[in-house]
Amino acid sequence: MFSAKLCCIKGFSSSPLLLLKRALLSLSHGQCTVTNTFEAQCKSKPQKQVCKTVLKHFDAQYSEELGEQWRNARDVLLNPLSWQYGVLLNRFSDLTNLKQCLSDLGYMNLLPQTHPESCSQTTPIPLQCFIHRDPVRIPTQSHHPGWLKQYYLLNAGSLLPVLSLNVKEGERVLDLCAAPGGKSLAVLQTATPGLLQCNEVDQHRHDWLLKTLESYVPPSLRHLLSVTHLDGRSIGKMRPGAYDKVLVDAPCSNDRSWLYTPDTHQGEMWLKERTQLPLLQKELLCSALAAVRPGGVVVYSTCTMSRAENQSVVEAVLASYQGVELLELEPHLIDSLSDHFCFAHFHPSVGQLVIPQKGQTWGPMYVSRLRRIY
Ligand SMILES: C[S@@+](CC[C@H](N)C(=O)[O-])C[C@H]1O[C@@H](n2cnc3c(N)ncnc32)[C@H](O)[C@@H]1O
Repeated sequence: MFSAKLCCIKGFSSSPLLLLKRALLSLSHGQCTVTNTFEAQCKSKPQKQVCKTVLKHFDAQYSEELGEQWRNARDVLLNPLSWQYGVLLNRFSDLTNLKQCLSDLGYMNLLPQTHPESCSQTTPIPLQCFIHRDPVRIPTQSHHPGWLKQYYLLNAGSLLPVLSLNVKEGERVLDLCAAPGGKSLAVLQTATPGLLQCNEVDQHRHDWLLKTLESYVPPSLRHLLSVTHLDGRSIGKMRPGAYDKVLVDAPCSNDRSWLYTPDTHQGEMWLKERTQLPLLQKELLCSALAAVRPGGVVVYSTCTMSRAENQSVVEAVLASYQGVELLELEPHLIDSLSDHFCFAHFHPSVGQLVIPQKGQTWGPMYVSRLRRIY
């Protein structure tokens, strides 16, 4: 069984950073046992180097866009050991002992739970994501043919777009930019859609997506899945009005990984590419709006704090696309997450931005919800 002991990482003693004594779970047939600890490995892991060019650019942009909130976000981004991973449970796998293990380790459920048995066709299936108040880690599970993984580690902020999509039983859903598949999996944790089309344009990431789905989704449900390898910009024209819900988790300037660009030249290249992203994002969002049926909902999300890729994209599309309205995120959702997520202070009508904050899920995650009226 797990040892629930927490330990401090040397070299990070100035902040209350705690890392779980990394336990290797050997999970077979739902049994979890500790076979070793990895404290030494954690300590010896090379620290990532921050790219000064990218940091300078972020400092200028985000202090202007986020004001005081940039200071906290910056501290978290500059310290990867403080990124808190959520543990999304896979309802299709055998979870015997796992919830107890997590609770022994001090994890708690992100969302208030109702009993899965009390779910009906109309009530959503409660998504079970465990989080910890400290930045602790448990290892990822490896792939074993014929065995379903029990959990998926993720930025818990990335559940916000999925919860905002609010998929109902039997709905036809398109995940336009799906790889590696975290949000597709999360959708399947909340409902059984009639169709879940997971699309990814990049060959390597498409293969990764297939593998993820194979590791988490039981064979009995795979007929509900369609995995496509298309440019998302063309799907709206190919399948107009075909879906009830579309998720556009757009390619974006990933604030976390860009900060750790290995060399300055690469950092400069990325910053140049950054200026091209809003065009692609607008095209993907327009394609999603064409693909959803009248009355259907599109959720647009990114993992950047950049206004140009968030609010400005949504505003530009709203200005150019007829018959679309903006929906605010449901207040009860925001309320139930506000203990764990730090929302940016800007006016939320064009979306919500989760910004990184110590002691909370790391973010960033921007989410906006739109409905096609006709
Ligand atoms: C932010 S990632 C998606 C993460 C994924 N939703 C998840 O939760 O695991 C964005 C993805 O969009 C893909 N992408 C980029 N351009 C695209 C396009 N034109 N059509 C479809 N997908 C695209 C990228 O290759 C990348 O895998």
